[in-house]
Amino acid sequence: MFTISELDKYVENGLSALNFKLDPKELYEPIEYMISIGGKRLRPELCLLTYNLFSDKIEKPILYPALALEIFHGFTLIHDDIMDQAELRRGQQTVYRKWDNNIAILSGDVMSIKAYELLANCPGEVLPQVLSLFSKTAAQVCEGQQYDMNFEDIPYITMDDYISMISLKTAVLIACSAKMGALIAGANEKVSQTLYDFAFDLGIAFQIQDDLFDTFGQGNVFGKKIGGDILNNKKTWLLVESFRVADNAQRQQLDEIIAMPLEKGEEKIARMQQMYTTLGIKEGAAKAINGYYENALEKIAKAGFSDSQLVQLHNFANKLIKRIK
Ligand code: IPE
Ligand code: IPE
Ligand code: MG
Ligand code: MG
Ligand code: MG
Repeated sequence: MFTISELDKYVENGLSALNFKLDPKELYEPIEYMISIGGKRLRPELCLLTYNLFSDKIEKPILYPALALEIFHGFTLIHDDIMDQAELRRGQQTVYRKWDNNIAILSGDVMSIKAYELLANCPGEVLPQVLSLFSKTAAQVCEGQQYDMNFEDIPYITMDDYISMISLKTAVLIACSAKMGALIAGANEKVSQTLYDFAFDLGIAFQIQDDLFDTFGQGNVFGKKIGGDILNNKKTWLLVESFRVADNAQRQQLDEIIAMPLEKGEEKIARMQQMYTTLGIKEGAAKAINGYYENALEKIAKAGFSDSQLVQLHNFANKLIKRIK
């Protein structure tokens, strides 16, 4: 079995070897840019990792589908940044700010097509399953993104609504990455599904962490504008939980902060951060993240994996949960 950093090298080298030096350059340069400005590469890493639980032969039939996940993810981020009006991504200007909306839309579109082209390199015998899993997942991500946008204009959602939304926009792609690696390695449906379920719970933990960092992270490390979710009235874990634990007077204050206009952005962010601190939301989020992490580990604990396979899966889960960006 390879170490996680050895797997990462396959991902980085694989991405660098993809050729996006094509014309028209307005279409392809943003793709090169998006890949070159970094990112954690979590999804291709996980796909190679679950494959590598069963096989050491890392060649095109697994590498390209793994890269497809990163390219698809990049496409969702480029479009997400338009939707969220975000200035910064991976510590750099977002694509639609560096170029413009039309370029960001079309470069994103071609990335999603490229993802399918890469995916088609998987072994013929699993291609139908892999295609069906990936297509279902891709549509779910769009569904989640639409709920995320719908929720901006709804004053209040339940924790169940929130979990459904992040299941779609974030957890399913991480889960799909884990299952795809196993399927391509020839693992059976039951084992592959166990890995899906494991990664799904990690994906939920991952999005709650993302929400937490968006409000309380270190801007220069996180690479996105701190407070962006507050400005957009996003229904994050922090906000949903705040409404859940607040008393009537505090709920009224939350409503007031949400109603503050963009011109008072910095004050809005500061007041919301203060509310979260008063309500102990940071601690609550840490507990929730740990709960999903524990659930994830439970899913694989008695599924018949060998000790070395379990160690590898635990390494990945620990790395994810200890992240600071
Ligand atoms: C950002 O994904 C979008 C979410 C699902 C939270 P990542 O946090 O994996 O972003 P990069 O690829 O590392 O930049
Ligand atoms: C985005 O969620 C999930 C997808 C891109 C599908 P966010 O909007 O929270 O992601 P960031 O914080 O901008 O990376
Ligand atoms: Mg978004
Ligand atoms: Mg966003
Ligand atoms: Mg976010």
